[in-house]
Amino acid sequence: MKNKQSVKELLKANAGTEVSINGWVRTKRGNKQVVFIALNDGSTINNIQIVADAEQFPEELLRKVTTGAAISVSGTLQESIGSGQAVEIHAKTLEVLGEADPEKYPIQPKKHSLEFLRDNAHLRFRTNIFGAVFRIRHAMAFAIHKYFNDNGFFYLHTPLITASDCEGAGEMFRVTTLDAKNPPLTESGDVDFRKDFFGKATNLTVSGQLEGELGAMALGKIYTFGPTFRAENSNTTRHLSEFWMIEPEMAFYDIYDNMDLAEDFLKYLLNYALDNCLEDLQYLSARLQEEEKNKKADERSMELIDKIRFVIDNKFERISYTDAIEILKNSKPNKNGKFQFPVDKWGVDLQSEHERYLVEKHFKKPVIMTGYPKEIKSFYMKQNPDGQTVAAMDVLFPQIGEIIGGSQREEDINKLMTRMREVGVPIAGMQYYLDTRRFGSAVHSGFGLGFERLLLFVTGMSNIRDVIPFPRTPKNAEF
Ligand code: 4AD
Ligand code: MG
Repeated sequence: MKNKQSVKELLKANAGTEVSINGWVRTKRGNKQVVFIALNDGSTINNIQIVADAEQFPEELLRKVTTGAAISVSGTLQESIGSGQAVEIHAKTLEVLGEADPEKYPIQPKKHSLEFLRDNAHLRFRTNIFGAVFRIRHAMAFAIHKYFNDNGFFYLHTPLITASDCEGAGEMFRVTTLDAKNPPLTESGDVDFRKDFFGKATNLTVSGQLEGELGAMALGKIYTFGPTFRAENSNTTRHLSEFWMIEPEMAFYDIYDNMDLAEDFLKYLLNYALDNCLEDLQYLSARLQEEEKNKKADERSMELIDKIRFVIDNKFERISYTDAIEILKNSKPNKNGKFQFPVDKWGVDLQSEHERYLVEKHFKKPVIMTGYPKEIKSFYMKQNPDGQTVAAMDVLFPQIGEIIGGSQREEDINKLMTRMREVGVPIAGMQYYLDTRRFGSAVHSGFGLGFERLLLFVTGMSNIRDVIPFPRTPKNAEF
């Protein structure tokens, strides 16, 4: 393969060689004698400086070298006398591949708001901030595959179209080819999905777990990594209608093995980010500090890289739901009416304000909470001997709240079926799932990591729409 050189490579190369480079102009400055162009090709946060002798190139050509234009340059790599870079290119040829009319090109060299860039998501990759975010996104995806591959897990592709609702929350997008205006009806007047494409009602998956369990009960350790879809009408900075989830599932793992894996996995990913994305992280950190410079010292968030190190260096606190409720009930914000959802009794579902209180104020480190009331968790979770709680585990992170949700699975077919009947999961359509409990059933566990929640933490971005290239949220499917 013919290898074109990247800015990242050239910045590390030795001066004196003849080089060529393609990229997009970030800025141009200079005078009648000399022109300086900052060129970026997406390979790194850093630009390479192009120095062009203005008298050697037609004025007409140089006029077209504007912010956003695509250009091709060849010349000599030389040591730079200017500060900020080791080398620069002294241009011998310069070609404008694609102009970017300065009157119309939206991404000008000035500070744009994140909202403005969200409306221009098709071009926001060309900014430093989104270049950094999406290079980190790539690195984290790669690290996830590496971690599992190195630890004997198999990548299992679970279907996106399914007839089941894994989480039982009814937040599904229907998949149908029926005519919405004139669907076939049954005798009782309901839509007759037997006539639909798949001969039954189908939807986009909310989780690959159920199929993941089937794989784990033969391959031992599997993971999924794919998009999941939730028609949940929550317009928050932490929810997407389409998000990516990583779901490992392990035969013969109990809830404690599951917790150990989740902690080790997260710490590995954070270490990987520090080892491989430092320049991008430093850029994002500086940006965050700039954003917060007018805040009081105690209101500023922890410096990004320190925050990542802090999570790596601390053992996650493990605590039961029951103990957490006691802490929350007696907490200052609860007593002072500061929580939007007051914590008054055992059994309430926890909101992100409660999760963040425990993590950020009480324990001051990530928390793994277990033993949730069965009523607020899904049907497949292992029922504890107390009859009240299930072997669920949520990993709670600073800034994020819930980053991972998982559990040991109920492997006893009778208990599982009883619970399915109680909560109304249609047993007839789930025989395939129950078969793993009928034949060679065993203790097994797994969890789901929200990929964009992880990225929120690693990049320090505050809105989940800014860590996925093209966000889907209620009333928004642009691009
Ligand atoms: O807690 P959840 O709903 O768990 C499951 O789906 C299980 N089937 C996972 C398993 O045990 N295999 O979702 C898992 C994680 C959450 O902790 C959160 O990080 C993320 O997925 N998540 C979302 N991320 C973005 N937008 C949403 N609407 C999300 N809903 C969940
Ligand atoms: Mg959850």
